[in-house]
Amino acid sequence: MAFSSAADLDRAWDLGVFYLKTPDELNLEDPRDFGRSLLAADSPYRAITQYGELEGFIALENNQQTKLALRRHHWDLHYPQHIAEFGRCLDSFGIAIIREVLHQSGIPENLWGRASAGYATGAGTAFLNFVHYDTHVSAWGLRPHTDYGFVTILDAIAPGLQVEIDGAFQDVPVLPGHFVINFGEALRFITAYSARPVGAVTHRVVGQKATDPVRHGIVYFANPDLDGALWQFDANGDSGGNSSVQKLFAMLEKNLTEDIHENRMG
Ligand SMILES: [Fe+2]
Repeated sequence: MAFSSAADLDRAWDLGVFYLKTPDELNLEDPRDFGRSLLAADSPYRAITQYGELEGFIALENNQQTKLALRRHHWDLHYPQHIAEFGRCLDSFGIAIIREVLHQSGIPENLWGRASAGYATGAGTAFLNFVHYDTHVSAWGLRPHTDYGFVTILDAIAPGLQVEIDGAFQDVPVLPGHFVINFGEALRFITAYSARPVGAVTHRVVGQKATDPVRHGIVYFANPDLDGALWQFDANGDSGGNSSVQKLFAMLEKNLTEDIHENRMG
C-alpha cells in the first residue's frame, strides 16, 4: 500500500477514507455479475437462511439498501466457490490495511491480535455483502452513518456515495480500477490512545431514482469477533481501556435505522 505523498497518507488516516488501486489480476466482473443476479425475483439467495439480524437477504428499514450479507464462516456454505474465494482475497487486503494502520500506530505488534479481537492476526470475522438500492422505497439510499468495523472495502460502479469532510457532504466519484476504503468505529476506538489515531468517516448514499441505473455494490467489512472485546493500547503497550464489541454494534445499528437527529455518534 503506497500513498503519493506523506500528506495524502495523513489526510486519509485523519478522515478515514481513501481510494485503493485494485490489482490488475483481481477479477471483479464475476463478483459483480453475481451481485446483479440477486436482482432477479426468483434468485434463490432471496430465500437464504437468516442468521440473526445481520446475515441473510436483508432490506434495511428506512433505507433503499437491500443486501445479501454473510459472515466469513458462512461463505463456503452459501456462496458459490469463486465468491467465497473472492472474499478470502478481500480478507488479505483487509488484514494488510489494518496491519499498516497498527504499524503506524506504534502499538507493539504482539498486541495487535488482542487489540482487534483477532482480526489483525487472521481471526476475527468479516462480512462479504452484495448490495443494491431499491427505488420502490422512497428514502435515503443509505442514511448517514459511520461503519462499526475496522476497515470497509467498497466496489461501487455507480455514483451516490458521499462522505462528510469538514462538516459538509461531498461526492465520492467512481474511480474505475479503485476500491473506496473507509475506516470504522472499531479502528478509531483501538487507535485512540496510540501514536497515530485514525478517523472513522461519516458517509451516506443519496436516494436513487427509478430512472437511475440500478446501483450495485460489493462491500467487505473487516470486523472483530462479535463476542470479543476491543482493547486500546498506547505505543508503550499500556492499555487505555476496552469495550465489548456487542455494545458498539448495537449503538451503530440503531443509528442507521432510527431517526438520526439525536443519536448520531460523534
Ligand atoms: Fe457504511
